[in-house]
Amino acid sequence: MALGTGSRTSVAIIGAGTQGCRLAYMWSSTGYDVHLVDAQASQLEGSHKVIEGFRSAASRKPRRWGEVITHFPKDLSAALQTAWLVVECVPEQLQLKRKVITELDSLAADEVIIASNSSSYTCSEILETLTLKNERRFLSAHSYWPPETPELEVMGHETTDPSCITLVLDRSKAHGFLPFHVKTPSMGYLYNRIWAAIKREALLAASEGVATPEEIDAIFKGVLKTPKGPFELMDVVGLDVVLDIEQHYADARGNIPSEPREYLQSLLRSGRLGVKKCQIAGTSSEPRTTRSHSGRAAQRWGLVTTRSTTLRMRDAVDRICSSRALDSSRKMATDDMTELADETTDAG
Ligand SMILES: NC(=O)c1ccc[n+]([C@@H]2O[C@H](COP(=O)([O-])OP(=O)(O)OC[C@H]3O[C@@H](n4cnc5c(N)ncnc54)[C@H](O)[C@@H]3O)[C@@H](O)[C@H]2O)c1
Repeated sequence: MALGTGSRTSVAIIGAGTQGCRLAYMWSSTGYDVHLVDAQASQLEGSHKVIEGFRSAASRKPRRWGEVITHFPKDLSAALQTAWLVVECVPEQLQLKRKVITELDSLAADEVIIASNSSSYTCSEILETLTLKNERRFLSAHSYWPPETPELEVMGHETTDPSCITLVLDRSKAHGFLPFHVKTPSMGYLYNRIWAAIKREALLAASEGVATPEEIDAIFKGVLKTPKGPFELMDVVGLDVVLDIEQHYADARGNIPSEPREYLQSLLRSGRLGVKKCQIAGTSSEPRTTRSHSGRAAQRWGLVTTRSTTLRMRDAVDRICSSRALDSSRKMATDDMTELADETTDAG
């Protein structure tokens, strides 16, 4: 039997958190069942209400929703029984992802496609230390938040079977996703790479004195007719986080100009973290009372990372604040990060 076809009609999802519930809602939208697995009873119990909320808010109602059947990990085999696809949506921790993928590989029949929803680890990175029974059916299927953002980035690794990619692209489209094939392994998938380039060039131009951040934001907004410029958007995320992400690209690629990072470092040295400190890289600041609005703007732009990454970012903010004796800003930064984690989408 070809991969992922035949009588297998359900999708299994591992992790009933933010993305797991969202994916359960999407993958049950054509009447097929979803098997949702989580290690925590409270997450499984709460998932039905969350999914029901997505269904009530959906602008297009299907003729019939599929059933969402919940399981604990001990019943993983049963959850995979009729699945053509299983998506891991556990927290963004590399070792945990490897453990879950290894279990799925050992329990899932050969024709079941295994996907990771990881935001920052490519499937090649996840596979690095693993020897799987069948790595050709493993790929990444990276979705966004909130559910009204239907874009899905589908990316294989060096030996992914192309028929798995085709099947996920086709079936995800039939379930309301807007899938994009990321044709080669790519850090940041597709969208976050584009956003990284915009940030980098805006910072480089400011560091060279070509224009001020306000002027760069103004021309960007004027030409593209968007509500925010790159500096305003970077400010929502926090300049320390922007620096971390830029450093990740520099470490991975080695040929990234250092000036944007140096420019960010100089702002951070002067205590400018971004909107979390109500103190922006020279741009017009948003008052803290509009943090929710900032979160939504970031969400539209795909600026902010997942909850788990955000919590790591929060730790980083904590370290920066304490190392520079910015005690008063630590609580504000922490509040902002928590709120952004609750409100917003993915980043890179
Ligand atoms: N939140 C987002 O907006 C977003 C967007 C794109 C991608 N992602 C990615 O999706 C993945 C999940 O993110 P999330 O925000 O949904 O996380 P989350 O913390 O909301 O949910 C994770 C769930 O996994 C469960 N879990 C942990 N270990 C488990 C195990 N061994 N077996 C079964 N369940 C287990 C937890 O109980 C929790 O319910 C991450 O890789 C993240 O990078 C998240």
